[in-house]
Amino acid sequence: MSGPPAQAWLNALLVLVEQLQLGLLSLWHALGLTGDSHGQPAWPWARRMAAETLLIDLGLARQVGLTLCAVAVAVLAMALALAWRRRRGVLLAGAALALVAAPWPSASLLFVPAAPTSFHASPTRFAVDSIAHGARVYAQHCTSCHGTDGRGEGPLAASLAVWPPTLAGPLLARRADGELFWHVLAGMRDRQGRSTMPAFGDRLGEREVWAVIDYMKALSAGSGAEGNWPVPLRLPEMAIRCADAAPLALSQWRGDQRVRLVTVDGTTPLPFEDPRFLTVLVTPDGQPPAQVPRFRAGCTAIASHAWQAVAAIAGQAPSRLAGTQLLADRAGWLRARGTPGRPWSDANLVCVSGPAAGTPAASSSAPSSVPDGLTALLLRMDAEPVRFVKGGFVH
Ligand code: HEC
Repeated sequence: MSGPPAQAWLNALLVLVEQLQLGLLSLWHALGLTGDSHGQPAWPWARRMAAETLLIDLGLARQVGLTLCAVAVAVLAMALALAWRRRRGVLLAGAALALVAAPWPSASLLFVPAAPTSFHASPTRFAVDSIAHGARVYAQHCTSCHGTDGRGEGPLAASLAVWPPTLAGPLLARRADGELFWHVLAGMRDRQGRSTMPAFGDRLGEREVWAVIDYMKALSAGSGAEGNWPVPLRLPEMAIRCADAAPLALSQWRGDQRVRLVTVDGTTPLPFEDPRFLTVLVTPDGQPPAQVPRFRAGCTAIASHAWQAVAAIAGQAPSRLAGTQLLADRAGWLRARGTPGRPWSDANLVCVSGPAAGTPAASSSAPSSVPDGLTALLLRMDAEPVRFVKGGFVH
């Protein structure tokens, strides 16, 4: 009994459910049966399949998986029946049997309310400029209820009928971006139809809403100060310059090389280059530090807001950020946060997808020569990739 781990088939199922719905949306849009909403094809139905429910209800997920298999078998049998006259009766009976025998899941569990933007993708690429823009929007419109730290304890919070949720928990990771977008634009209501979260559609433009979602994610990661981050984050997009070459987008390394962001100001010692990852220096003003000879400078972030965005993600005040490091895996997920002056260890992991940090994972197979902290961390990041599913994360 050594099938693939539960998470592998579950992840595949969630991706399939997502792709099926996106495929249907594209088809409807191509046929002209649905228009656009906020620049992307609008989801035409009031409900959608709830990937986030499947993620926590394995029994339901199994039923959905088996039913999808049965439907695939039935469709295949019917297609064969069209071509193969002599066996038509048997094939059609087989198709009917597959459909009858399938463990159809309960619709009320599987389907949840949807918005026209449920399947929208954020156009911002989680760029540092967008995070900084979002910080301004958040400070102006959201802190009164959600609080500067996002824990839902702003000055107005106590006077509301419903307490604002804390962003320091997994809420933002559980919701599809498109639904967060809709909730900010259109507001939210309780079961009796009373407004709970105000609508911002008349005050904020689309770009501002996508930006504030980016900032809330950064804030959420930064507020989970200890241990695991509640929201897995991509390396933020930013322009960087390597030696004298033309500026490049940091995402260019995604899928290829690990990236380490090192925040340095005039006082911090510069890191050594390390061939195991691309080192990018982040400075308060986007200029390479004066004390670095060119050949050692590696790459420097030239995006002016990089310092502020990294500070939000790392949960540090910008004035105390210098020396903090962020490490991203080859797929571009931020996985570890380094503290100035301390050696790397498993305790630096902020995004763990296997056993919780600190548990002696796979210690029985560990080689007798124990690798140093950073090597062990990199090996673990490679061995336990982040599994990502829209609308729900396996983390
Ligand atoms: C008047 C107080 C108030 C203000 C101002 C406010 N919110 Fe909220 N917000 C709430 C409350 C209350 C809820 C919980 C609503 C519920 O669960 O029904 C909420 C929920 C949310 C959620 C969770 C949505 C979800 O999918 O569950 C997000 C995201 C959010 N707010 C973002 C924002 C942003 C961004 C701003 C500023 C542009 C903002 N809020 C301003 C009160 C407020």
